[in-house]
Parts: sequence; structure tokens; C-alpha cells
Amino acid sequence: MKDELQALAQEAREAIEAAQTAEDVEAVRVSFLGRKSGRLKDMLSSLGKLPAEERPVMGQLAQGIRKEIEDLLKAKGESVGSAQKAKPKKTQAAQASGDLDRLDVTLPGRAPRLGKRHPTLAMMDEIVAIFLGLGFKVAEGPEVENHYYGWEALNYPDDHPAMDEQMTFYLANDLMLRSQTSTVQIRTMEQEQPPVAYVVPGRCYRRDRVDATHMHTFYQLEGLKVGAGISFAHLKGTLVAFARELFGDQMDVRLRPDFFPFTEPSAEFALTCTLCMGDGCRTCSGTGWLEVGGCGVVDENVLRNIGYDPEEVSGFAFGFGIDRFAMLRHQIDDIRLLWSGDMRFLRQF
Ligand code: DAH
Repeated sequence: MKDELQALAQEAREAIEAAQTAEDVEAVRVSFLGRKSGRLKDMLSSLGKLPAEERPVMGQLAQGIRKEIEDLLKAKGESVGSAQKAKPKKTQAAQASGDLDRLDVTLPGRAPRLGKRHPTLAMMDEIVAIFLGLGFKVAEGPEVENHYYGWEALNYPDDHPAMDEQMTFYLANDLMLRSQTSTVQIRTMEQEQPPVAYVVPGRCYRRDRVDATHMHTFYQLEGLKVGAGISFAHLKGTLVAFARELFGDQMDVRLRPDFFPFTEPSAEFALTCTLCMGDGCRTCSGTGWLEVGGCGVVDENVLRNIGYDPEEVSGFAFGFGIDRFAMLRHQIDDIRLLWSGDMRFLRQF
């Protein structure tokens, strides 16, 4: 009987161990301790058949086993109960939606950051719009140029100092970063027969030492008008109209002789100083004028290079830096600020 009791106890321990739910635990309890047909009860009822001296011993053993089974059932019942109450393991999707539950919709929204035009490019748009109003069209050209468009077709002699590596960035195979938008003059004239009237905004590169007024990378606007009877007078009239449209009716244009290989005659052009309106200040070194670009009558050699007949057509061209105008408009005294990438500076405009 003793062995039977111990075997029963062992069986009960294993059954409890294997139980996974509260129902399993209850089933084990009924099967071993059930009052009607529990297996321990069955054994206890056969105690009476034992010799009198064995009865109390076996009785005690049976009670001990009952107590043990009861305790084990209780502990197991608690552990499966709490495991069942705990939320089942979440899938990844469930976890994600759990995070969404925590979204606080009362928080103020995050305002999308609105970009805006860089001051130089805004100035470029403004200038281009004025020339569109004067009857010019807009063209663009490559920033990487070859020797022909960069120099030769523009009537540069082979030993011109601008070609020097100290002045221009060269790439492999006779290619270079254009140092002026004048290179696009040739490309536009190749595409069309006169009359042509174009402005060409674009980025240029020079091996300039960077300082408050020089940058290795900068923007220019080129102008070109070719047709029958176009003269230097048209050039000046165009520049005056442009300057007045941009800065006001008090503006004037000063032209002084200069030299460029692709114009003859050539001139440097200056505008009334926008800060002192001609009275003389620090920005214009007391002269009342600001030099802004170059211009002239298109050289006959250039016209011949693209197959126009200089007996039939003539033209004018001009070019100036756009960054310079942005600096004048916003009274920026250092060109490097425009390219610093510093948002605190750029957000002002
Ligand atoms: N390309 C010249 C420069 O970068 C400016 C210039 C001068 C442009 C005379 C012209 C011109 O079209 O006719 O300094």
C-alpha cells in the first residue's frame, strides 16, 4: 500500500507539472482528490482492510500526500491563472498599433519647413523677368565647356591671360568650368538665325582668391542681341531701362572704354551707387558709381565664326554678376555669407 500511495503521489506530481490551464489543474484535482471517485479517496477507503497497527501509519502517509497534492495544485493554479491573465505576446503589428494608442493627438502639429529662394537666385529671377519684358528670351548652356565655345569662337587669342590655369579651372581633355556665361553666346547664335535676343543666367567658376567680393563660384547674366542695325546706342538704352526697372528712376548708367576679345568697341558699365544714389559713399569709394559688368558691340569675328554676315547684322552683348546685385539689394557686405549655408543668415531674406 505504501508503494501504491507513493506511486500515486508521483503520478499526481507529474500531472500537475504538465497542466497548462486552470481547466487542466481542475481536472487533475478531480481525478486525484475528487470526493466521489478521486483516486486518493479510493485508496483511503481500503485502509480499513489493513491490519490495525498499519492503519495509522498509512493514514498519515495518505494525509501527507493529500496535503502535498493540494499545495501543488494551488501553486500551479495560481501560476497558470496569472499567465492566462497576462496579455498574450504581441506580434510586431500589434506592438506598432500599441504605440499608436499612445499618440497624443492634442499636441500641436509640427509645421512643415517651407523653403524659399536663395537671395542670389531670387535676384536672378527678378533680373530675368525684366529682360523678358524688354523682349529677350532665356537660354542656358553647359557649365563644363570646351576650348572652342570657351575661348576660340569668342575670339580669344591663344595667349590670352584668362586661359591661364591660374584663372580658370581645367578638367581633363580640353574641358574647363566656364569662367563666364559669354560662352553661351555662340551656342545660342548657332541655333538661330538673326534677329536673336537672349539673356543667359548661370553659374560660373574662377580661380579667384576668395574674399569679401570674390567667390570661386558665382552667378552671371549674359545678354546678347543681334539683328539688322543694332548699335551701341541700343546697348546703352537697354542697360538704362534695366537699371531703372530694377532700382528706380534715379538710376543712370556709365560706360567707359574697356577691352574684351568678343566685343569691339568694349566698355565697362557702372550704375549709380544704390546706397548713396550718386552722392558718394564708402561702398562706391566716393565716386557715386558701382562697376557691375562689361559690354560692347559684338566683334565681327564672332559673327563670322558662327556664320552671320557682319555686313547685314550687328549686335551688342553685356554680362554682369548676379550675386553683386543681390548684395546691393540686401546691403550684404561679404559675398561669402551668401554661400555659407548658414540658415540664420539666409532666413532673413
Ligand atoms: N564675360 C565678361 C566677364 O565675365 C563680361 C562681359 C563683357 C560680357 C563684355 C559681355 C561683354 O557679353 O560683351 O567679365
